[in-house]
Amino acid sequence: MTSTASTSIVLTGFMGVGKSAVGREVAIRLGRTFIDLDDKIEEMAGMRIPQIFETWGEAHFRALERKLLRQLALQQGLVIATGGGALVDARNREMMVQQSLVVCLTATPETILQRLGNDTQRPLLAGPQRLQRIVQLLNQRAAAYAEIPQWVDTSGKSIAQVADEVLVLAQNQRGGVLRLPVTLPDDTRYEILLGSGLLSHIPALLAEQHLTGQVVIVSDENVAAHWAAQLQEAFATAGQQPHLSVLPAGETHKTLATIRHLYDDFLAAGLDRSGLVLALGGGVVGDMAGFAAATYLRGVRLVQVPTSLLAMVDSSVGGKTGVDLPQGKNLVGAFKQPNLVVIDPDLLATLPPQEYRNGLAEVIKHGIIQDAALFEQFAGDGPDSLLSMIARALRVKIGVVQRDPFEAGERAHLNLGHTFGHAIEQVSNFAIPHGQGVALGLIAAATLAANRGLCPASLPQQIRDVLARVGLPVTLADYSPEQILAAMTTDKKRKQGRIRFVLPRAVGQVGVYEDVRDAEVLTSLRAVMMM
Ligand SMILES: NC(=O)c1ccc[n+]([C@@H]2O[C@H](COP(=O)([O-])OP(=O)(O)OC[C@H]3O[C@@H](n4cnc5c(N)ncnc54)[C@H](O)[C@@H]3O)[C@@H](O)[C@H]2O)c1
Ligand SMILES: [Zn+2]
Repeated sequence: MTSTASTSIVLTGFMGVGKSAVGREVAIRLGRTFIDLDDKIEEMAGMRIPQIFETWGEAHFRALERKLLRQLALQQGLVIATGGGALVDARNREMMVQQSLVVCLTATPETILQRLGNDTQRPLLAGPQRLQRIVQLLNQRAAAYAEIPQWVDTSGKSIAQVADEVLVLAQNQRGGVLRLPVTLPDDTRYEILLGSGLLSHIPALLAEQHLTGQVVIVSDENVAAHWAAQLQEAFATAGQQPHLSVLPAGETHKTLATIRHLYDDFLAAGLDRSGLVLALGGGVVGDMAGFAAATYLRGVRLVQVPTSLLAMVDSSVGGKTGVDLPQGKNLVGAFKQPNLVVIDPDLLATLPPQEYRNGLAEVIKHGIIQDAALFEQFAGDGPDSLLSMIARALRVKIGVVQRDPFEAGERAHLNLGHTFGHAIEQVSNFAIPHGQGVALGLIAAATLAANRGLCPASLPQQIRDVLARVGLPVTLADYSPEQILAAMTTDKKRKQGRIRFVLPRAVGQVGVYEDVRDAEVLTSLRAVMMM
């Protein structure tokens, strides 16, 4: 994406999200020309859109749309509102994303229904059961919208508020950076920035976000060896000398003793409440630096710079931090939302391939939870790019934690495959890493769901194929189903003695079940062992 002051701004999204009204407002505020694509098409065709659909059919309408978009892509400095389907076409989308700042406006189906009222000028929504039709169309378009770099949710917001947010995006645009805002129910807000080469821009990004003050970088010995110097150099160029605290790598060091060591380092560095902790590392570093930041001086600010794939798509977002006790994993911790998350996929270049595959287990899990198209990509030619894969997996996590920051309900969905997975890790005495445990857990959960008739009978095999394709294990030897079941009953996610299982209903949809019998668990584990 080019980043000049005159780059066009394109607003897209479903009908009823307010593209035209917001576009008009943004154009007025920037003193730019506003173009409503649908109006232009009507002008070109000399008839209203429902008539075009009736007379010539949708294909003809789409052809007009494409032609006009091509013309507009050549111009600069416009504000354009497109029809809801215009950028569903991959060629249209890529062309506009290349040339302009494309923002997808979103809203809940209920908001959309309410905003559309009884508008009868919507050929795609003709007929009764409009809410169902809206949900259906939204699902059809979800994959295309997911590829649009910037989203602004419009539910419950005025046109002026949405225009404000679009203008902030326009001001902040920087070549190739995706900005994924996270807004929690209590109005806490932070951004996830995703882009190649961002590591060196971190000092500038902190300044831009008013994250000033003393910085302590927390990393581990593996990550620091590859990336700390580059980050420190960037700070030095900006005239800052952050303290670097390097921890021993690995889950076995995710302990209170290490936290104590961090406190000592923070004190020795003179970190005060106006300073901030920057976690440069995988999930282990992020969880510990986050917990230390949550508790040191009753809390200092936190910036997450994840370096493993797992940390990029999962642990750096959502605010869970903590350490292990000898009695179990993650038994002590705090919710600590980061003030900023900076994801630079270039850092994955030094991640050991095995760790990368472990992270893919979580990406695939996110696909099964809520992004069927992402999952299908793994079954087909693979994700479009590393960046789009991370963005899509992240969007699933962001959506879930925004709706349920404290795991009162929906957030449990993120534990798909984890009840089995944790138990498998545990019986192996952690010789089987988390991602592999999750992979096996995904198959076991799908098998259990299929046996219950909750999902298509073919789903376990479908999931197994995708996992095998990316090099994750799909069968388990050496341990008995009974051992694994026994380990499950000590899982801390138990609720009043019952184990909660997240089970897939289809690719892209899961549910929580608390009535699973031991026999069902054993049967599905046996299936994972036999294959
Ligand atoms: N907070 C949450 O919401 C959440 C969610 C999921 C997992 N977790 C936690 O995350 C941890 C697992 O995270 P992880 O898989 O990232 O483990 P990790 O941090 O141990 O990283 C895995 C290994 O890769 C190395 N590494 C990381 N990035 C590297 C890079 N760019 N180059 C070279 N080496 C690199 C690390 O040094 C380590 O040896 C677990 O402790 C788990 O409990 C937390
Ligand atoms: Zn996990």
